[in-house]
Amino acid sequence: MPAGESEAIRIRPLGPDDSLDELTELLHRAYQRLAVMGLNFTAVDQESSVTRGRAQGGTCLVAEVAGAMVGTVTYYPPGGKAYCAWYACGGVGHLGQFAVLPGCQRRGIGGQLLDAAEALAAHDGAKELALDTAEPAVHLTQYYEQRGYRLVGHEQWEGKTYRSVIMSKTLATQIPDG
Ligand SMILES: CC(C)(COP(=O)(O)OP(=O)(O)OC[C@H]1O[C@@H](n2cnc3c(N)ncnc32)[C@H](O)[C@@H]1OP(=O)(O)O)[C@@H](O)C(=O)NCCC(=O)NCCS
Repeated sequence: MPAGESEAIRIRPLGPDDSLDELTELLHRAYQRLAVMGLNFTAVDQESSVTRGRAQGGTCLVAEVAGAMVGTVTYYPPGGKAYCAWYACGGVGHLGQFAVLPGCQRRGIGGQLLDAAEALAAHDGAKELALDTAEPAVHLTQYYEQRGYRLVGHEQWEGKTYRSVIMSKTLATQIPDG
């Protein structure tokens, strides 16, 4: 998408015909900025098989512009595999693999992906939606704070060059239809 061009953004679930290699390439390109900061996020260089496993563990959403995949996030509902104590709490869903292609950032695509994931979580009856990121990536912790996420804890995962922050957002209560 050339700079300045405005095209409709479509958010949809990852489909069986989507290329896991394309999705992995998107993740690598987006996370390169973090690699340059010395932050060895898994998505910096993960294999497509890892992308597949992480996507299939939850609901993987993709953002599409003019038929091209430009962003992604995966939503994990409450009650699934928990990597930290906060994620294991009742009613807490979490996010992962959040990325927008560098040339498409700062146009609200990431915000739309988060809106869609938060809507899925609220629909599931989740009370909180959580995520983790690297403590030194202050631009990210500030971005999430602006989106209503607050600090709820820290983790030092094995093999990581950084300490992680766990952030969480309290979701608005859903009023059931009818
Ligand atoms: C984090 C990430 C997914 C955000 O995606 P994005 O599409 O750039 O997100 P948004 O456009 O919604 O918001 C980004 C910024 O652009 C601003 N913005 C949003 N719409 C805008 C617009 N139309 N014009 C100008 N700026 C805009 C937002 O206010 C925000 O600014 P801030 O960072 O100062 O708060 C993206 O930067 C990325 O892929 N980063 C690398 C990978 C990564 O860090 N992943 C998360 C690991 S935890």
